[in-house]
Amino acid sequence: MSDTQDSAFDLVVIGSGPGGYVCAIKAAQLGLKVAVVEKRKTYGGTCLNVGCIPSKALLHASEMFEEAGHNFAELGIEVAPKLNLETMLGHKDKTVKSNVDGIAFLFKKNKIEGIIGTGRIKAAGEVEVAGEDGAARTLKTKAIVIATGSEVAGIPGMDVEFDGETVVSSDHAIALSRVPETMVVVGGGVIGLELGSVWGRLGAKVTVVEYLDKVLGPMDGEVSTAFQKLLAKQGMTFKLGAKVTGIVSEGGKASVTFEPAKGGEAETVSADVVLVATGRRPFTDGLGLDEVGVQRDKAGRVEIDAGYKTNVDGIYAIGDVVKGPMLAHKAEDEGVALAEILAGQHGHVNYGVIPSVVYTQPEVASVGRTEEELKADGIEYKVGKFPFMANGRARAMLSTDGFVKILADKTSDRVLGVHVLGRGAGELIAEAAVLMEFGGSSEDLARTCHAHPTMSEAMREAAFAAFAKPIHI
Ligand code: NAI
Repeated sequence: MSDTQDSAFDLVVIGSGPGGYVCAIKAAQLGLKVAVVEKRKTYGGTCLNVGCIPSKALLHASEMFEEAGHNFAELGIEVAPKLNLETMLGHKDKTVKSNVDGIAFLFKKNKIEGIIGTGRIKAAGEVEVAGEDGAARTLKTKAIVIATGSEVAGIPGMDVEFDGETVVSSDHAIALSRVPETMVVVGGGVIGLELGSVWGRLGAKVTVVEYLDKVLGPMDGEVSTAFQKLLAKQGMTFKLGAKVTGIVSEGGKASVTFEPAKGGEAETVSADVVLVATGRRPFTDGLGLDEVGVQRDKAGRVEIDAGYKTNVDGIYAIGDVVKGPMLAHKAEDEGVALAEILAGQHGHVNYGVIPSVVYTQPEVASVGRTEEELKADGIEYKVGKFPFMANGRARAMLSTDGFVKILADKTSDRVLGVHVLGRGAGELIAEAAVLMEFGGSSEDLARTCHAHPTMSEAMREAAFAAFAKPIHI
């Protein structure tokens, strides 16, 4: 194995997901000499290769299939859609390729050295990269950023054997070669409900087994309950308050055993495919963190200070590998903030205003506090709600499911949380994030002119409902 020493960089980023690649680009824009080390063959991390982007391609395609089969007739369009799964998966693969190629292009454009290989921290200021050909390089650098993301966690306290066909993780569930007749999803979180929706729309009978008494654990309770009802109407079956204790795979089928979380008789269901979506954990394998002495917490997350620095000078960490929600856009914002700090500026992330979106149909989107959180903290608040049923554009689009809910401080009227269940909620939430970033009130939102007819008028009406009265209900 040959070893070459490289000329010094200002920054070496390990991992090219949304945290790492954004940090690298921002740092390069600010004049730093940057290298990115990536162990996959393509850049973009989980999000672009096997997460956000491919799942959204499949969510969109399967939603169109579902629309064509169920809603077009009401609009006067009579078609009998036929699924071509190979083409649909091809659309997903092309979407991934154009996105990962886009990152390679951005690296070149910003004069970032992209290195495919596995990075290991030898010491502060030194990253060893083992390339595919066995050759090793040592990169000398002023700063190192750990942006190695997360990996599938499996079921807590259980050994799950993923075979990729019958017992699968999200990595496999974006590439099943046929539509299963039956599917059990373990975990009613974001991944389970998004990918369960994809295969449900394409024809699978989906059963979701969730430990908690609600789906989407951290989401506002009222939104979660309404959302679950809509998914049930679409054909999903729910076993809530149910703890999965065993998965046995045999002869191309798998059976899942679960028992009431509060104790009681166990039940077993079998399915063609079992998707285990019970969370992700920080990925730090092989990075050499113990040797260098980088501290991690009990959950395996790299510990950082307010400026993303670990306990070792010159080593920083961002994204899924540190505390906070495992969201691509949170990682991106940390990447920008850290690059600014390393360039001598004052990077900062407002963790109180990080939107969260579930890309099902309808979508679920939220930013800020839930009603449960406000209650727990003893904050006095008022609620403004408006249903899409009373929105003209929603009626015209046969998209009347769901509502907007705005939570504002009872005294100051400052908006503390916004929760949207409805078509396009993921786009609508952006105006709530801007409002909250500027410390806006429900009156500010209600007095802002919104184009008619748009779904966004429901946002304005909910704001009216919080500070005065809505007009259209
Ligand atoms: P999650 O944490 O969202 O949901 C996992 C669910 O599994 C929880 O509700 C938990 O109660 C349940 N669970 C755990 N053990 C169980 C057991 N033994 N039996 C039954 N249920 C059990 O995790 P998920 O969906 O795997 O997502 C991982 C991460 O990826 C999350 O942080 C999520 O935010 C992120 N992500 C975000 C997306 C988005 O923003 N649209 C899309 C996909 C993932």
